[in-house]
Amino acid sequence: MNEISDSDFDFVCSLVNKAAAIAIDSDMKYLVESRLTALSRKTDYACATELLAGLRRAASPELEERVVDAMTTNETSFFRDSHPFVTLCENVLPEIARSHSDTINIWCAACSTGQEPYTIAMSILEHCPQLASRVRIKATDISKEVITKAEQGRYSRLEVNRGLPVQLLPKYFEQKGLHWEVNSALRSMVSFEQLNLIERWDGLPMMDVIFLRNVLIYFVPSVKTQVLLSTSKVLKPNGFLFLGLSETTLNLNTDYDRVNTDHSHYYKIA
Ligand SMILES: C[S@@+](CC[C@H](N)C(=O)[O-])C[C@H]1O[C@@H](n2cnc3c(N)ncnc32)[C@H](O)[C@@H]1O
Repeated sequence: MNEISDSDFDFVCSLVNKAAAIAIDSDMKYLVESRLTALSRKTDYACATELLAGLRRAASPELEERVVDAMTTNETSFFRDSHPFVTLCENVLPEIARSHSDTINIWCAACSTGQEPYTIAMSILEHCPQLASRVRIKATDISKEVITKAEQGRYSRLEVNRGLPVQLLPKYFEQKGLHWEVNSALRSMVSFEQLNLIERWDGLPMMDVIFLRNVLIYFVPSVKTQVLLSTSKVLKPNGFLFLGLSETTLNLNTDYDRVNTDHSHYYKIA
């Protein structure tokens, strides 16, 4: 693998920061190199340095997007951290069902390859099936590549082995060759869309619940605050926000209060 220059590294950091607000640490040059080397193979450039030279020579929104995509971390799994899904079904959805009888809108922002929104759908079908027909799950991510995969709902044996309880596999997935595809019950509850959290979000309905998990960690504090402020504008007054386990609104200037439950916690607008 060829080493990229410091100036190429700075160029990538600023491109990714401008496009996605993702802050790349100064000691992550090896990561940029390895991800762009992989991208250069897919895009017919000899190496990462040549790919970046090409991008500097002639601006290409499509190649820029692929560089940003390559620099996103898409780590996810079914039932990741499990407890928020218990809280969703035991506390949150019953409270929403008591408060109104309309469609229940759930937004899974930064959904990566889809395991999280499909987990929400399975949790509802398993634990509050009477509400399933009222629930609409909108799942979004900045990366076109992961949204395409999420929409396909096609997972390898390794992926389904990560977190999915064994009894749910035949119930919600169909085997197609070496892969497993989500069934129509799950598909009908989730719709996918590409959406950048740092740009304007037009056309989203007001949400009852927002899952914004394991993405704020990539942003600097001012961007975290900005994104949380924006979520508060699409969350209904009594709506619920879930963050990742290592994420918090503490020390950020937001109106959210943390509410603890038996299994987990969520945030509500104060
Ligand atoms: C570590 S994954 C988290 C996936 C899932 N929420 C979970 O907790 O398992 C982070 C996701 O955030 C997305 N992401 C990063 N920056 C983003 C932005 N500015 N707007 C929307 N999504 C972004 C990445 O593409 C990636 O799929």
